[in-house]
Amino acid sequence: MADSKASLSIDGKEVAELPILKGSAGNDVIDIRTLGASGYFTYDPGFLATASCESAITFIDGGKGVLQHRGYPIDSLAKEANYLEVCYILLNGTAPTKAEYDEFENIITNHTMVHEKMANFFQGFRADAHPMAMLCGIVGAMSSFYHDDLDITDPAQRMRCAHRLVAKMPTISAMAYKYSMGQPFVYPRNDLNYAENFLHMMFSVPAEEYNVSPTLAKAMDRIFTLHADHEQNASTSTVRLAGSSGANPYACIAAGVASLWGPAHGGANEACLTMLEEIGDVSRVDEFVKKAKDKNDPFRLMGFGHRVYKNFDPRATVMRETCHEVLEELGVNDPLLDVAMALEKVALEDPYFIEKKLYPNVDFYSGIILKAIGIPTSMFTVIFAMSRTVGWISHWDEMLSQPGQKIGRPRQKYTGEINREFTPLKNR
Ligand code: SDX
Repeated sequence: MADSKASLSIDGKEVAELPILKGSAGNDVIDIRTLGASGYFTYDPGFLATASCESAITFIDGGKGVLQHRGYPIDSLAKEANYLEVCYILLNGTAPTKAEYDEFENIITNHTMVHEKMANFFQGFRADAHPMAMLCGIVGAMSSFYHDDLDITDPAQRMRCAHRLVAKMPTISAMAYKYSMGQPFVYPRNDLNYAENFLHMMFSVPAEEYNVSPTLAKAMDRIFTLHADHEQNASTSTVRLAGSSGANPYACIAAGVASLWGPAHGGANEACLTMLEEIGDVSRVDEFVKKAKDKNDPFRLMGFGHRVYKNFDPRATVMRETCHEVLEELGVNDPLLDVAMALEKVALEDPYFIEKKLYPNVDFYSGIILKAIGIPTSMFTVIFAMSRTVGWISHWDEMLSQPGQKIGRPRQKYTGEINREFTPLKNR
């Protein structure tokens, strides 16, 4: 329902009258769906000022450092809820009762195994294949297992698909790690909770008993929560666009995995730890900050900056606290934390970073925690993808539940040749 209107005039002539639509919070939006008839398109590469959809899942106020999932603040969820509860909230819109939570946990627990044939897919990868490459392939291949049982217009079948993905992503992720280590795959156990099960599938070996550390499981669970969803980021928008054609949801999630892999997005946590290791010592921080400010140097400080947060990323605040807790509880004295703290201090006081509003983002501290837990760097983005799967599939489900859902089909500003005469090759 339009609340007010925007008039577009060009050279003094009114070209269009566009409704302005209000959401429940955040910016109002100018509805430009009728603008094409005027002979104009809007132009917004990178979508700096474009709302691609209507959503009730996650709200971000970049200026105030606010992140809420279904209205619940991220710091409350990270400290008071566990990841599976956050999954329920994202998928269903509100916090579960105890009975609803228990039923949901039981469903997820009983979907954690993958079809035995999926183990064969891994054999096609080289031993040194990046786990994200394996995840892209294996998740896409899941569509071959559930193609028939999938009427995406049926909410119940969409939810079953969501349950399968939330349940199986840790199993597949751990399998990618085990394959890269040359160790046997480890089956999930139904007596462990979500985070404990993941660590069990990652680190237990047939040769000895593996006892999951409650500290590591709690830290893992919090990392999952802090990465669960984040509005219309690049990978979520990728899933929505793929899903808008009616594509199989497992293939859509595989597209999200591929998009997240980029170092400007979810690949930043791996890149950030590599950067901290390259800096190596507090004494070299200034040298790298200088490189980041040098316009002629493509180097960027990984883990800094954000398209939306121009104040601070609330997840980074919680991640920083968790980082200190985990390292203290584990008695780990990681010099990389000193480097990270020094880098953060220098960057937050440097006029370049202040002017460009570059603050630590969710990826800045996560790498240090994951390293302390014993997760290899190559698995960092896999864990991000695993955590974000619930966000991706929640947005996919919301999109398909909305009336009048259309295939995404942007236009362009064309700058190529036009009306050229073609001379056949034999005459050229
Ligand atoms: C995630 O969208 C999401 O919500 C993503 C995410 C999620 O949960 O889904 O939050 C997860 O992807 C977090 C971001 C992780 N990426 C990194 O940490 C990589 C390093 N950061 C950047 O590459 C960059 O900050 C982005 C990609 C995050 C944001 O890029 P923008 O908004 O397109 O900003 P920009 O590239 O136009 O930069 C603006 C200015 C530029 O300088 P000028 O051209 O204006 O002179 O800031 C500079 C940039 O050069 N800049 C940096 C910088 N990031 C931006 N300079 C040094 N170091 C950096 N990290």
